[in-house]
Amino acid sequence: MSVRTLLVGCGRLGGAILSGWKLTGSVPMAEIGILTPSRKAVADAAAADGADLSPRDMSSVETVVLAVKPAKWRAVSEDLASQVPVGATLISVMAAVRADAMAEVWGHRPIARVMPTTAVSQARGVAATWGSTSQARDAIERLFGPLAKLVPVEREAEIDVATAMSGSGAAFAYAFVRALARAGIARGLTDKQALDLALATVAGAVGKLEMQPNPDGLVAEVASPGGTTEAGLRVLEPSLTQLLDRTVAASLERVEELSLGG
Ligand SMILES: NC(=O)c1ccc[n+]([C@@H]2O[C@H](COP(=O)([O-])OP(=O)(O)OC[C@H]3O[C@@H](n4cnc5c(N)ncnc54)[C@H](OP(=O)(O)O)[C@@H]3O)[C@@H](O)[C@H]2O)c1
Repeated sequence: MSVRTLLVGCGRLGGAILSGWKLTGSVPMAEIGILTPSRKAVADAAAADGADLSPRDMSSVETVVLAVKPAKWRAVSEDLASQVPVGATLISVMAAVRADAMAEVWGHRPIARVMPTTAVSQARGVAATWGSTSQARDAIERLFGPLAKLVPVEREAEIDVATAMSGSGAAFAYAFVRALARAGIARGLTDKQALDLALATVAGAVGKLEMQPNPDGLVAEVASPGGTTEAGLRVLEPSLTQLLDRTVAASLERVEELSLGG
């Protein structure tokens, strides 16, 4: 079958996207072309189901998903732009690379930016999305709708905020679980006990939040007046709010440096 979707880069995020497509069956493997300089198990598995590794004929490509590091995109794109049809859509999942910079190489093709989390591999991701045209927005729906909760933004600049808050945010959540576990270990729990407790506590809390997206109400539900939770929150809340504000600001600053080629 001919290649409709070309995945460029099969690293942590590109591999997660490919796994999500395979898991959900939302994009037939036989329609996918994959460009990856080194062999990847996930790409080999897709090839076994019909994906084309290093396709030569790009004439049927409808969408290119660019999942390389920001420092690599220009060289990769300069090679590809002349081979991919002029009507194809470009979806970038890269941090920091702006649509107007991509248009310098990809010309008038519709451009979309998607900022997913790697949980797309289990079809449990979230992705902030922005598309320059309705064709670009349709391509986002088709390729990422089955893998992630899509959060469209109106202005491309908001993708940068999502990059700092959500693209990087999964690691902030992992770091929170790790720190909570460490506090338990410091007070006598084993590593396993502490990680099991921290992880299941956070997972259960997230499950409740998904059913009842009201963090204020849920905090109040656990923190009875004069109780243990209230005592802990008195320490956590003021610092956490400031800390996460500074954390997102630092990530956003790095997005801006990267967008300038840093
Ligand atoms: N990781 C995340 O959670 C996350 C979240 C949101 C956005 N992003 C964005 O996703 C992009 C990729 O990040 P990543 O974490 O997946 O990085 P990564 O693991 O380093 O993957 C990048 C991949 O690009 C491949 N590559 C390099 N040159 C190429 C070429 N000429 N043609 C095709 N593929 C090429 C590399 O192949 P080799 O391995 O063979 O060198 C590598 O596997 C970045 O722009 C990042 O901002 C990542």
